[in-house]
Amino acid sequence: MISPIKWEDNQVVMIDQRKLPWEEKWLTCRNYQDVARCIKELVIRGAPAIGVAAAMGMALGALKINTNNPDIFYERLKKISDFLASQRPTAVNLIWALKRQEKRALSLYGQPVEEVTEALITEARAMLEEDIAINRRIGANGVQLVPNKATILTHCNAGALATGGYGTALGVVRAAIEAGKKVEVLADETRPFLQGARLTAWELNKDRIPVKVITDNMAGHFLKSGLIDLVVVGADRIAANGDVANKIGTYSVAVLAKENRVPFYVAAPLSTIDRSAYSGAEIPIEERTPKEITHIRGRQITPSGVGVLHPAFDITPSKYIKAIITEAGLAQKPFRSGINRLFKKINKIF
Ligand code: MRU
Repeated sequence: MISPIKWEDNQVVMIDQRKLPWEEKWLTCRNYQDVARCIKELVIRGAPAIGVAAAMGMALGALKINTNNPDIFYERLKKISDFLASQRPTAVNLIWALKRQEKRALSLYGQPVEEVTEALITEARAMLEEDIAINRRIGANGVQLVPNKATILTHCNAGALATGGYGTALGVVRAAIEAGKKVEVLADETRPFLQGARLTAWELNKDRIPVKVITDNMAGHFLKSGLIDLVVVGADRIAANGDVANKIGTYSVAVLAKENRVPFYVAAPLSTIDRSAYSGAEIPIEERTPKEITHIRGRQITPSGVGVLHPAFDITPSKYIKAIITEAGLAQKPFRSGINRLFKKINKIF
């Protein structure tokens, strides 16, 4: 199973997800600006993976701050954190990871800056390992929802590539297979960046997990046909009431799943839940460059001068969601209290 990012010799190394499945190319980030660019340009993507990248970016930034003066150090660190946070607005794991790093640094205020930097490196590496462990727990909690001989529809890529490893939605798939269940995945291709056709198909195929790609506009047809037993997707941000921001197209799948009585699940770590957002209406939606729609691999596919709309995410109202699968267990309706219960439970464990 792949892990898309590592900390190596005080550099951040990541697989270039723009190039998959054609090329397995690893890029080295030597400073936080490189990491920021990789986040913005989707070299690394997926909410938990972006969080790990940002945490590592901050550690990299700290390494390059050339001062012994703690006030200057903390001021520059904050600027680095703000810069990294500004790269993508929807995935809350980005902000969550940076806040965690800021808190870690502040807890050591007064210590030599080398020690603070070392602690930020250790924290970032720990976040990578933790994320994989969390995904395994998400998988274990989701297994009960997967019948034997199931066909699972997923949208975008919420797999190993989108996380530290193992995946959230695809973590549920992996756990079901490890539990001896027969599972096949249908991957929506996920226009325009093709996370499903390129990334979900690539990582499942690599792990010999049965997968077939369908175009986004086929999902309704197959949900109606009875082929699909359940839908599992990831999330970029979940509001306190259970509304979910995820890759554009998720909402349509959720409505079609409900219409056809196919259970629709969201698998995500608690770090993706933003309880400060009362509902999905408060979640910012990223608008990406028109070029990702007007061009395919450098070639223009729309008439020159014709505009496009390009929201990268949509909001699925919680009424379409059967359960949110987290490392602390399942949240079900009413989601607001269900989500709060999970946070209380996790506080007791740690
Ligand atoms: O634009 P992306 O590729 O970063 O969007 C990714 C998604 O929408 C994923 O479904 C989400 O981040 C969950 S990843 C475990």
